[in-house]
Amino acid sequence: MKRPPLNRSLAEFGTTIFAEMSALAARTGAINLGQGFPDTDGPEEVREAAVRALRDGRGNQYPPGPGVPELRAAVCAHQQHWYGLEYDPDREVLITTGATEAIAAALLALLEQGDEVIALEPYYDSYAAGIAMAGGTRVPVTLRPDAEAGRYRLDLDELRDAVTDDTRLILLNTPHNPTGTVLSREELAAIAQLACERDLYVITDEVYEHLVFDGEHIPLATFPGMRERTITIGSAGKTFSFTGWKVGWVTAAPELVTAVRSAKQFLTYVASGPFQYAVAEALALPDAYYTAFRDDLALKRDVLADGLAAAGFAVYRPAGTYFITTDIRPLGPEISADGDGFAFCRSLPERCGVVAVPNAVFYDHREQGAPFVRFAFCKQMSVLEHAVERLKSLAA
Ligand SMILES: Cc1ncc(COP(=O)(O)O)c(C=O)c1O
Repeated sequence: MKRPPLNRSLAEFGTTIFAEMSALAARTGAINLGQGFPDTDGPEEVREAAVRALRDGRGNQYPPGPGVPELRAAVCAHQQHWYGLEYDPDREVLITTGATEAIAAALLALLEQGDEVIALEPYYDSYAAGIAMAGGTRVPVTLRPDAEAGRYRLDLDELRDAVTDDTRLILLNTPHNPTGTVLSREELAAIAQLACERDLYVITDEVYEHLVFDGEHIPLATFPGMRERTITIGSAGKTFSFTGWKVGWVTAAPELVTAVRSAKQFLTYVASGPFQYAVAEALALPDAYYTAFRDDLALKRDVLADGLAAAGFAVYRPAGTYFITTDIRPLGPEISADGDGFAFCRSLPERCGVVAVPNAVFYDHREQGAPFVRFAFCKQMSVLEHAVERLKSLAA
């Protein structure tokens, strides 16, 4: 008998929950706070820059493999300006088709069959698929909810214990989707020390670097011994609200960038030509852009977090990203479907016209995520207020 068409390493990755929930939102006319994309486009001048590039014939043909020089220079200037990190635009930067391709290419480049990858669970859904495609074995370290502190915590002992002789790399994400946790200086220092001690690479997904409301974002590459072993990933999708442009980047030591490029060139080779020129201009926007963007999102976070708390959820108020994780159990067994996030999310559009996603999809240990549900607040204030109004009916 013939094997099923899908490669068995990908068999567990069927249709994503986002597709199911977005379809449910469309069918029921519910407000979609499931998927994390802004409902307002990024700055007008950046859109104009893309139009100019298209009209002027910049990027309409294959751009250079590593990315257009203007964007590579802008990425380096950004890392220098915000974090004091110096990178060589010719040897230490690679432009990718969004952060997703950067993650996939980095995993394909660094992993061999059986290599173990430690990732912080719950994790962004492409990590598990990327590790599987590269033949690696994922080793989740679970971030635990601390209800009293209202945040998720990394247990550093658990992380240390997860490292074995087969561990090749740690796949980190801070600010963290979906929990909204921003790893602290102490946590990052401990991770850096562990990586150096055990001679591990780190791929660090920092796409929400400018969406930090409490505390600060500290790139892992700034810690002693880390610059040469860290692959840092950024994305214009999150920083400038152009998720459809798919422009991302990698910064790392030359040997690592060369390795990632070796894999990347056979995925897409290159992409997003004219958008690369526009993102180069975006990265040079004054600090005021970044501050205003963050402050606007902080207000939205507060409106949705307060609304969810008033509706009866236990709220993990995020320090960063544009997601709020909630615990549905305080809503009671009937509404929360006995704390089953899947059943709750499937019933929420009918019940009150809002779509969210169950955090269990981001876990290997699904039971750990069962009663948690994620809402996105990268939406217009009026949309969030409307959603909050609808969610009120849960409390009634
Ligand atoms: C943690 C994380 N990494 C990467 C991505 C994808 O970024 P891009 O759209 O640039 O591929 C997302 C998108 O939601 C994300 O949440």
